[in-house]
Amino acid sequence: MRLPRSVRDADVAGKTVLVRADLNVPLEDGRVADDTRIRASLPTLQLLLDGDAAAVRVCSHLGRPKTDEDRAKYVMAPVEARVRELLPDERLTVLENTRFNPSETKNDEGYARELAAGCDLYVNDAFGSAHRAHSSTEAVAHLLPAYAGLLLLDELAHLGRLLGDVERPFVLISGGAKVEDKLGVLRNLGGRADTVLIGGKMAEELRNEDPLEFPAAVTVELPGDVIGAAEFAADAESRVCGFDELPDGWLGLDIGPATRERFAAALASARTIFWNGPMGVFEWPRFAEGTKAVAEAVAANEAAFSVVGGADSVRALNELGLADRVSWVSTGGGASLELLEGKELPGVAAIPS
Ligand code: 3PG
Repeated sequence: MRLPRSVRDADVAGKTVLVRADLNVPLEDGRVADDTRIRASLPTLQLLLDGDAAAVRVCSHLGRPKTDEDRAKYVMAPVEARVRELLPDERLTVLENTRFNPSETKNDEGYARELAAGCDLYVNDAFGSAHRAHSSTEAVAHLLPAYAGLLLLDELAHLGRLLGDVERPFVLISGGAKVEDKLGVLRNLGGRADTVLIGGKMAEELRNEDPLEFPAAVTVELPGDVIGAAEFAADAESRVCGFDELPDGWLGLDIGPATRERFAAALASARTIFWNGPMGVFEWPRFAEGTKAVAEAVAANEAAFSVVGGADSVRALNELGLADRVSWVSTGGGASLELLEGKELPGVAAIPS
């Protein structure tokens, strides 16, 4: 894999540095619910401050704001407050959510120019957003001398291991809500994984699809049973249902006990594991058991090289105190899936070697 040049090789003294981090963290009641991504961004910020950068401007997207209501929900203020708590330094500023500018996701050069204005260098440390060709991840890298941050490089080194000759069986387990992003990627994984276990909302989407659309070499396992809920609510009436037997209007909000056992058994015999996305609505205790079972099965398999990615799965791992028991906790969700697919990520491609 081609590696982009490192921020360690940049002379930052006296410079104003624009840093693209991935500070897209889960929020709850207007507060940061898991600060893993913020903490993971700190070594690069510290390196720049220690290197006597005159100013460090950090930018990131937060959520997928579309409506005015979303704009209120996804202001950077809580994220900025957490950054400041962890790294109090007057030279550090956190810019407002890049996605509040509709040009960001169009990779618009005009918006990239606005971001670059007054800056001397650009450092991309946002591995989790490196699969997006957006103004702050791609276009801007052509306007300033561009370097890769420490986290981005560390992620490429660890995930790169999954792209090499992995020990088999290689089990990939995927769930979560960003279904439209992940399905294509999963189909294109080719023969890389031996088994793909699917839970969460993605399983619902696949219910009526022909699993043969997946490469023949890959065994795809869907849930056999789910925790059905009469409505989307933490205290909804709920019970175990066959995956294909949900009553009309009911939703499957977690994988069921039999599926938990089957998925755990597949994970126990794996020698390489990649887990992305929760199995259900794990924020609500009644629908958290599937995600918990998967987290425990991944952590229990000490013989496997195990990588967990995606903000929600990482949050679940942290809440269960299991983050230290996996080989690598990736800050990337979709980005790690696309890298696994063998794609070059636009945010990485834009940085010279
Ligand atoms: C993520 O959470 O995977 C990244 O921050 C990218 O977010 P996006 O899928 O909304 O681009």
